[in-house]
Amino acid sequence: MTRLLLVAAGLWLLTAGAARAESCQVAIESNDLMRYNAHEITVPASCAEVEVTLKDPGNLSAQVMGHDWVLARDADMSAIVNAGQAAGRAQGYLPQHDPRVIAATGIVGGGESATVSFSTATLTAGERYAFFCTAPGHAATMHGRFVFGAGTRVALAK
Ligand code: CO
Repeated sequence: MTRLLLVAAGLWLLTAGAARAESCQVAIESNDLMRYNAHEITVPASCAEVEVTLKDPGNLSAQVMGHDWVLARDADMSAIVNAGQAAGRAQGYLPQHDPRVIAATGIVGGGESATVSFSTATLTAGERYAFFCTAPGHAATMHGRFVFGAGTRVALAK
């Protein structure tokens, strides 16, 4: 009986640990229709570091339909997208060493995934942040809201 209880307690601790670790990790998908599967991502202010994984279950290659996941202040999104066009394909349509870019994954095509980890030290609760894709023409449909300072949640697109 004692052993059973200990095993049960151990399982509970493992589960609780996993839940805490997961709360700073989020996953999002992109697809061949130039969409993300989520329109809002929320992470708690208790996350010193956040890990975002972008996965593309589509069929089109990165050359044809590549996507990235870029995080910035909402007000900086347009400028970063424009700077990304200027940077061109060789730079992954992302301005290099641009301090406005808070986090960015590499570009993924169908069947690929990319993960980025970033510190939340520069994020402010209540500030408006956006995530978006910098591939040419994509941000019009591929963008969403990033909320720092609430419970972990990935709100799926309709
Ligand atoms: Co895209």
